[in-house]
Amino acid sequence: MVKTGLFWGSDTGMTEEVVEVLLDIIGCQKVDSFNIFNASVQKIEQYNHLIFGLSTWYDGELQSDWDEFFEQFKSIDFRGKRVALFGLGDQEGYSEYFVDGIGIIGEVIEQNGGKIMGKWSTNGYEFECSKGLYEEGYFFGLAIDEDNQPEQTDDRLQQWVEQLVNEGFLDK
Ligand SMILES: Cc1cc2nc3c(=O)[nH]c(=O)nc-3n(C[C@H](O)[C@H](O)[C@H](O)COP(=O)(O)O)c2cc1C
Repeated sequence: MVKTGLFWGSDTGMTEEVVEVLLDIIGCQKVDSFNIFNASVQKIEQYNHLIFGLSTWYDGELQSDWDEFFEQFKSIDFRGKRVALFGLGDQEGYSEYFVDGIGIIGEVIEQNGGKIMGKWSTNGYEFECSKGLYEEGYFFGLAIDEDNQPEQTDDRLQQWVEQLVNEGFLDK
């Protein structure tokens, strides 16, 4: 079984809660989960299968622990690695910066040779701008809005994991 490395960061615990649900859906025996606060470049480099999760703060900035780690993150060689992203944000309160974080780290991953898995449709969201857009109609990864659409989170996670299975990224 290929183990997936899941690295996440959370300021007020929302992303952390989503991680718990995600681990339940995927099966925690398939995933090694790390708070990015305690992580290192070497730890990330041990995995060819990666999931990164983060929220966006202060008008389009990375969650604080991701922000501190970002200079080191940019040095990671992602060639041969497949990476799925999920981001938390608030599409009403921060409509011009909705889930920018997944775009900020997604671009680094692509520039450094990684392959992005699990791109997610923008259907069902209303926002003005997002650096999290991979292309017209698609985010770099799963967008979750616990502030305005918490009732959709579990379904979105379930569907995203199914998509990742169909893309051959996760085992059934
Ligand atoms: C001061 C503040 C700034 C925020 N800035 C953004 C933002 O620029 N873009 C966005 O999509 N969400 C923004 N949010 C919403 C958070 O990303 C959202 O509440 C998220 O669920 C927090 O997750 P966490 O507790 O895991 O950090 C902001 C929230 C606050 C309180």
